Amino acid sequence: MKMWLWTVVLLAVTTLTFCTPLINELEPGKDWPKRGSVKQPQDEPEITEISTEVPSNTDFKERTPVEFGDEIEEEIAILAKAAEVADTKVDYSGAQVWKVSTEKTGVRATLGRLRRRNLISTWAGNQTYLDVFVKSNALQNVTRIMKRENITFHIVIDDLQKRINEENPPLDENEIELQDRRGHRMTWKQYHRLEDIHGFMDYLAKTYPKIISVNTIGKSYEGRDLKVLRISDGKPTNKAVFIDGGIHAREWISPATVTYLINQIAENFDEESDDIKNIDWYILPVVNPDGYEYTHVKDRLWRKNRKPTIGTRACVGADLNRNFGYRWGGKGASSNPCSDIYRGARAFSEPESKAVSEFIKNSAANFSAYLTYHSYGQYLLYPWGYDTAVPPDHKDLDIVGKSIAAAIENTGGSKYSVGSSSGLLYPASGGSDDWAKAQGIKYAFTIELSDTGRYGFILPTSFIEPVARESLAGVRVLASQIHKL
Ligand code: ARG
Ligand code: ZN
Repeated sequence: MKMWLWTVVLLAVTTLTFCTPLINELEPGKDWPKRGSVKQPQDEPEITEISTEVPSNTDFKERTPVEFGDEIEEEIAILAKAAEVADTKVDYSGAQVWKVSTEKTGVRATLGRLRRRNLISTWAGNQTYLDVFVKSNALQNVTRIMKRENITFHIVIDDLQKRINEENPPLDENEIELQDRRGHRMTWKQYHRLEDIHGFMDYLAKTYPKIISVNTIGKSYEGRDLKVLRISDGKPTNKAVFIDGGIHAREWISPATVTYLINQIAENFDEESDDIKNIDWYILPVVNPDGYEYTHVKDRLWRKNRKPTIGTRACVGADLNRNFGYRWGGKGASSNPCSDIYRGARAFSEPESKAVSEFIKNSAANFSAYLTYHSYGQYLLYPWGYDTAVPPDHKDLDIVGKSIAAAIENTGGSKYSVGSSSGLLYPASGGSDDWAKAQGIKYAFTIELSDTGRYGFILPTSFIEPVARESLAGVRVLASQIHKL
């Protein structure tokens, strides 16, 4: 090796070994310092000391080598299990979705009774209407009751299974060939399995190690990785933004959009605006991987995670967006483990919500914004969700929310309504946005992506690119606003 190279190596090794690095001296792609583990640039750097602390959230695991035979057996067992699950997919033939106006008195009460009798569930809605899902075997009954009570509705989806069958067709040959050449399998022409999403993230980290790294911040109940991707050029003056998707399993457009954002920022980083480059992006596309996979192999309409409730064998899962620890257990959350909005046994009882909160709390990054992508309805929601109060700086949130909505509309034409979630929708406590806001993250938004009910959760793949493109425009506006703080 050349002498000068030795010098550089030696210098680098010495620096790494003997100094607690300033946060900006860490290799941007590699280190995700925890709060307190590194000095901030403003902390005086004069006296250096030897640090032995290894940030515990940096667990880049080595694969433990497995015997070949074991691996195959394991694989067979997994395949067998998948086949078994796939064979018995929940069938929604004949199930319908209705739009019901709720402005007449008594309508909400009636729908509430039907819901408690498990004849219907509500998908979305606001103060004026509800989208009501009716199982095929309840259609007659519910129709009769609606007629009797003089409640008008119209059928938006008349056979849900048909929509499910048409939603996510396989890629054509050309696309598959392209996939193989790209080094990852992700496209925005299809809804992908978790494996493709994670493979895509790992690919980016490998391809752009100077700015991108992937870290597992915890495990889901069933043991899947909760993978966060960071994009950062390591400038000490950067702001930080946390984005997540897939808290609710069936909202497939959410991980698709969030991965689209990653792809755009990652692949074009050098050409990006300073507003984008001056932010450290932390992005978790699938908060609820167990639920997400479950919607692919078993039940397309699953919402919660997959942790069973002790003692209630029949009911599985908590609503992760009712499990966060700010005003947990208040309005709009259920204590019934069988409910789709079950809040969990206690705040952060679920490994997925716990991991997100621990990561955000312990990160050295000082987040200026928290964006959480859901579907559907086209809303830009800010806290509070737990009740009809607003934070002291709600005017700032409203202004930024409206400018994001304007950018979305200018880009793709979709209209997003802006407001506090309790005001615009309904009170719902234990949401991740409320918790993030309560942690001091100024711009905490829940973004309810498209559509407004025509397809609802079963949004055809042709929507992915237009919806995600609009959202990117919104994120750019947010980025520019953050730098004005
Ligand atoms: N559709 C979302 C839900 O019901 C909206 C959440 C809004 N935020 C809130 N904290 N309530 O979970
Ligand atoms: Zn949701």
